Amino acid sequence: MNILVLHGPNLNRLGKREPAVYGTATLEQINSQVEELARELGAEVECFQSNHEGELIDKLQAAAEVMDAVVFNPGAFTHYSIALRDAVASLDIPVVEVHLSNIHAREEFRHKSVIAPVAAGQISGFGPESYLLGLRAAVSLAQSRRKTN
Ligand code: DQA
Repeated sequence: MNILVLHGPNLNRLGKREPAVYGTATLEQINSQVEELARELGAEVECFQSNHEGELIDKLQAAAEVMDAVVFNPGAFTHYSIALRDAVASLDIPVVEVHLSNIHAREEFRHKSVIAPVAAGQISGFGPESYLLGLRAAVSLAQSRRKTN
């Protein structure tokens, strides 16, 4: 079971970036927690961060061939990137959208996700735990797909 954990723009600055909103954990710490849970669940994870829309699209397209599911925090692209939405929609594997903050409790421009309608589901508001919940969902979705395929 191979899971891609994809982080979008500005998430490389976690720990330093608006800690009142995003907490104090760094991306490296979150990735370590994700890797530890993956080991427990018997899954392999690849964690990747990019500030560039095109690079995220390339990574999603490559995932179609080699991954069983994706956990994706698209950052601010969540709210307006039709190109990322189309990339997610083109995949046959499940994509779980995650956010550290509760985007629905923040500014109105964050309430809309253009990714959500093409994602398997959305987890938002649990801090780093959002990624762990997202990983559990991704593994579980990928396992049930394997049974039915
Ligand atoms: C975010 C929420 C987005 O609105 C924001 O632009 C981010 C992080 C989150 O994880 O809470 O960069 O995706």
